[in-house]
Amino acid sequence: MVTTSIKQMVRSNVGVIDRAIYSDPDIYAQELEQVFGRSWLYVAHTSQLSKPNDFMANYMGEDPVLVTKDAKGKLHTFLNMCRHRGNRICRADFGNAPSFMCTYHGWTFSTDGKLVGVPGYKEAYFEELDRTQWGLVEARTDSYKGLVFANWDKEAPGLLEFLGDAVWYLDIWLDRRENRTEVLGGMHRWVMPFNWKFGVDNFGGDTYHTMVSHGSMSLAGFSQGQRQPISTDKSRFQVAIGNGHCFIGGVDPELQKQPQGSTFNKETAQYIRDINEEQTARLGKVRGAHAMGVGSLFPNFSWIAAPFVRNWHPRGISKTEMWSWCIVDKDAPQEIKNAMRVELTQRFGPSASMEQDDANNWMGSTETSRSLTGKKYPLNMQMGLGRQWTSEIHPAKALNIPWSDTNWLHFYEHWAKMMDAPSWSQIQLDPIKHRQ
Ligand code: FES
Ligand SMILES: [Fe+2]
Repeated sequence: MVTTSIKQMVRSNVGVIDRAIYSDPDIYAQELEQVFGRSWLYVAHTSQLSKPNDFMANYMGEDPVLVTKDAKGKLHTFLNMCRHRGNRICRADFGNAPSFMCTYHGWTFSTDGKLVGVPGYKEAYFEELDRTQWGLVEARTDSYKGLVFANWDKEAPGLLEFLGDAVWYLDIWLDRRENRTEVLGGMHRWVMPFNWKFGVDNFGGDTYHTMVSHGSMSLAGFSQGQRQPISTDKSRFQVAIGNGHCFIGGVDPELQKQPQGSTFNKETAQYIRDINEEQTARLGKVRGAHAMGVGSLFPNFSWIAAPFVRNWHPRGISKTEMWSWCIVDKDAPQEIKNAMRVELTQRFGPSASMEQDDANNWMGSTETSRSLTGKKYPLNMQMGLGRQWTSEIHPAKALNIPWSDTNWLHFYEHWAKMMDAPSWSQIQLDPIKHRQ
């Protein structure tokens, strides 16, 4: 347990952050416990669990989990761990099965978590093993418009409270079309040597890096999105939503004729325009003017241009496993879905262009957070400090021009709050302005 207050390391009022938060193993142990052990974490999409006994494997922090739909249609999230000697009960990534037999000694569990089979129950256990006490370890599970989340902490607030005003923004993606969304195809998974927070904060608030880090893409003509010059124009902004959730891509609907977002290919950009009428009819004029931009839900789920989404799974203080895939409108034409899949592969993934630009930077930042001299010098997050504003039309806690560290500081403030509080009763969530 870390004894210094984490808040002293995240000095958001002056925009300075201690680098130990990226390199101290004790801080990492504490964040697994107090951030990943107590937050609602994205674990699956309902389209992956459409039939009874469908299952999907994922991680909550470093804990492997299985998300299941039981025979009666109820969603569960279980620790993927046999209660006998702790082996995994399932090695498949997804599928459909009425039960899971552990490959070590054969204990078998149903999709609602009960221990239903024990080899030698009569002969070796003399029927004395209380099977009702040895079912799978279960997390709380809930979903919001297709996104399934789970939480280990019984004291945590409900999912909607945790997401707060993020749902107002998520609807722009999840509810813009009548039949909502579905997962497209499989996913890319790979491990890189950087701290997980560098990825989350980049997606949640780093417009600044695009011109430099991804500048070569613009020069080569691969992307229109990276060429925007830095300006003080307030018609586009980034949004510190509340509860650590962040979003880049807010617009003033009076000034924008078409929804703006980080779409790159002509086909997908045109598709966003084509569905604008339906989106506006469903969500109103303000949210009709928005595309999903880039963002991060606290603590480790991000999207870019929605459909490209990812989990940042911590694998030690200096290692992150990325899971990257598409969540698309079910009603989108097949050729658009295909274009999105191709775009994902080209831009975000182990061999993709933008990914390589980003990952090297995060590796560099992680390395110097560990080095003897480097770690003595704090990080600078002073861009746009004190320039935030609020808006009648946006429920977010604070807005700033897109070139600002406001979102980063917002994420780290919430992270520090969770790291310092011994229980949920001492964590105050931001007030929700927009009730559905
Ligand atoms: S570890 Fe699973 S049956 Fe023994
Ligand atoms: Fe990037």
